Amino acid sequence: MESIQGMFDLSGRVALVTGSSRGIGRAIALTLGQAGAKVVFHGSRPSKALTATLEEARGMGISCESVTADLSDMDSTRRLLEQVDTPDILVLNASLQKYMTIEDFDDEEFDREFITNVKSCCVMMRKMIPEMRRRGFGRVITIGSVNQYRPSPRLIMYSATKTALCTVAMTLARTCAGDGVTVNNISPGCIATDRNAETLSDEDTRLRILDAIPAHRIGVAEDIAGTALLLASPAGSYITGADIPVTGGLHL
Ligand SMILES: NC(=O)c1ccc[n+]([C@@H]2O[C@H](COP(=O)([O-])OP(=O)(O)OC[C@H]3O[C@@H](n4cnc5c(N)ncnc54)[C@H](OP(=O)(O)O)[C@@H]3O)[C@@H](O)[C@H]2O)c1
Repeated sequence: MESIQGMFDLSGRVALVTGSSRGIGRAIALTLGQAGAKVVFHGSRPSKALTATLEEARGMGISCESVTADLSDMDSTRRLLEQVDTPDILVLNASLQKYMTIEDFDDEEFDREFITNVKSCCVMMRKMIPEMRRRGFGRVITIGSVNQYRPSPRLIMYSATKTALCTVAMTLARTCAGDGVTVNNISPGCIATDRNAETLSDEDTRLRILDAIPAHRIGVAEDIAGTALLLASPAGSYITGADIPVTGGLHL
């Protein structure tokens, strides 16, 4: 029987986490690093947040480096792929979202969100998954959203991109299962990060959201990190094709 430590040991593995300068991606990357993985942090551009996260990781003894690329721009995504080797663990976390109903549906915003949240992920997986399959090992984790289950009228495009990415992940899970590569999706609920800081600063809105969450608390980025660690770890090697809501019940 494997020790508990061994079940979650990522020593010798390399993890690339997109959008890990801040928020959920940062918490996931720091957790994978603490479990022993070497971490490639990523942000859309050089920033104080990315530098601070890298410094924090180094202070924790995590072996790491950082890369930047705007994933809404396919040339930038391609340049990123020229800079990084295929990791053992790929977490596709970066995304864009804009409040948009069908009435104010914006063609350009559709392209920006679809490219960032779906197409760039597919292009990265097109390059990396075949290498993972050749090696006989890979862990791919896509980050979806509670909006897959509970669509918000104001996030019509964003919800669609998350559902699309999850479907891609499920398809790949089936294709790659025989080659030691698992592919899973985590669907966070309402998690307090920079992205929704303004929304959550409105007391009425915050109380309305709290009311809808059965656990009756807004999540924090670290709430997502444990599930990512499980999926990346030896303990999670038989989990593939799962879409795991981490929502405090908000998806119900
Ligand atoms: N927070 C929630 O309540 C919630 C709920 C459901 C799902 N999610 C999902 O969880 C993931 C993380 O969300 P979060 O709340 O942690 O986000 P966040 O705090 O807004 O952080 C976004 C991260 O993505 C990067 N990013 C943004 N636009 C990018 C682009 N065009 N190209 C490359 N990187 C880009 C940012 O880099 P920079 O620092 O360089 O800008 C940052 O590292 C997302 O997929 C989101 O859809 C979040």
